[in-house]
Amino acid sequence: MGAIAAQIDGVLHVMSDAPARQYARRMRIAIAGGTGTVGRLVTDAVRRHDHEPVVISRSTGIDLLTGEGLDTVLDGVHAVIDVTNTTSMSAAASIRFFQTVTQGLLAAEQRAGVHHHVVLSIVGIDSTETGYGYYQGKRAQEHAVQEGPVPFSLVRATQFHEFARQMFERVKIGPFVLVPTMRTQPIAAAEVAERLVELAEGAPAGRVADIAGPRVERMAELARRYGRAAGLAGRVVEVSLPGSAGHQMRDGSLLAGTSAQLRGPEFAVWLREQTGSGGEAKTPRQVGVAGIPIVRAPLPTAPEPSLSNARELIASLQTAGMPITLTIDGDERRLPVHVDEVAFRALQEGVGLVLTRTRGVDATAIVRYLPHAVEVEVAHGPGRTTPRAGQAASLSRSRAEIRRLGGAIGAGPTDDGGFRLSATIPTPE
Ligand SMILES: NC(=O)c1ccc[n+]([C@@H]2O[C@H](COP(=O)([O-])OP(=O)(O)OC[C@H]3O[C@@H](n4cnc5c(N)ncnc54)[C@H](OP(=O)(O)O)[C@@H]3O)[C@@H](O)[C@H]2O)c1
Repeated sequence: MGAIAAQIDGVLHVMSDAPARQYARRMRIAIAGGTGTVGRLVTDAVRRHDHEPVVISRSTGIDLLTGEGLDTVLDGVHAVIDVTNTTSMSAAASIRFFQTVTQGLLAAEQRAGVHHHVVLSIVGIDSTETGYGYYQGKRAQEHAVQEGPVPFSLVRATQFHEFARQMFERVKIGPFVLVPTMRTQPIAAAEVAERLVELAEGAPAGRVADIAGPRVERMAELARRYGRAAGLAGRVVEVSLPGSAGHQMRDGSLLAGTSAQLRGPEFAVWLREQTGSGGEAKTPRQVGVAGIPIVRAPLPTAPEPSLSNARELIASLQTAGMPITLTIDGDERRLPVHVDEVAFRALQEGVGLVLTRTRGVDATAIVRYLPHAVEVEVAHGPGRTTPRAGQAASLSRSRAEIRRLGGAIGAGPTDDGGFRLSATIPTPE
């Protein structure tokens, strides 16, 4: 199927030019990752096209990292659509996941006589040598498919419109939703799903034209509009990620090239369909179309406020690609409940403040267990700091709590152009 793109009143409109198609045979199509964001929509599209879906995921009983049970479910399958995913952004973990899953799937497909493997990848993943760790995993996945034993179709898509919602789920810290500075040309996941099913119905085609949405947007702005429309709590703050990966997000490397197939709807139209709003309404519907739930705030993202969860907090940020590391010094011990909670909040606020000022450099968090106190330090630098209005208020709450406990807190620019928050709280026996 193709798409017609036309400029009307300065706005690019994209419509499908596909005639209603009838397929001679009913196919059995397996969807690896068929319970995920795009996977659920692929499963719906497979049914709509009058084929039989076979959903493969851990929640349907198959872990593709082990492959146990895969041979049985692939029996009689004509094509496999792979839309599995890992939330890890580290290169090593991402490469391990995509290689293991892909090689396991392809070997099982070969044994079962499946003659078409369809895989979804991402526009722009090879625009730098190393780049974003996750993209290295996607490159490894593409490579395994291209070198593998099963004829394939491979399509790359830009970020989904649904990515705006995933930001609220994955990168919320305290009152902030941290969104990388990114230019994107988002596409509705339902359109991607439709394209994947079209490919599965045809003969293996190798790498086909990329697909993208009709408009170039700024990711943080999409997240803001989504949050407003869905009534989600959290202030969206842009974070400029360091290194070539951050540069790639900002410089347009993730946008579609001229040969890409553009498919609507644009974000504003999609958002209206999901929430009954163009981004301004305060009263969203509880459930959007296409099975994407619209959740009222707040989403359950933060761990319990205790320093024993510091690793979990920082790991969730690292998983989302945020440039921060954690060091824990001294002997970790149980702290009085109130001290523990206030120290964790200071860590959380410090991380929020520092990450929103990183401007392309790495941040560090340190928790020090001293004999009679606990110290929390979050810093980045050297670099340029960016004062942001409205954040001092949340810090002043922490300041009052810490002072009440006899401690001290300070935050501000450092001599080398960095930014540091440091808090010390006594720990009475
Ligand atoms: N998000 C975007 O904007 C975007 C854009 C372009 C391309 N893509 C690509 O689209 C694909 C799907 O992304 P998504 O955002 O839809 O993913 P998602 O919502 O995270 O869903 C991932 C799916 O994979 C399954 N899965 C994960 N680990 C598994 C395992 N070990 N064994 C079996 N199943 C497993 C999950 O089900 P269980 O948890 O039940 O196992 C789930 O069904 C990814 O490859 C991604 O790179 C995404």
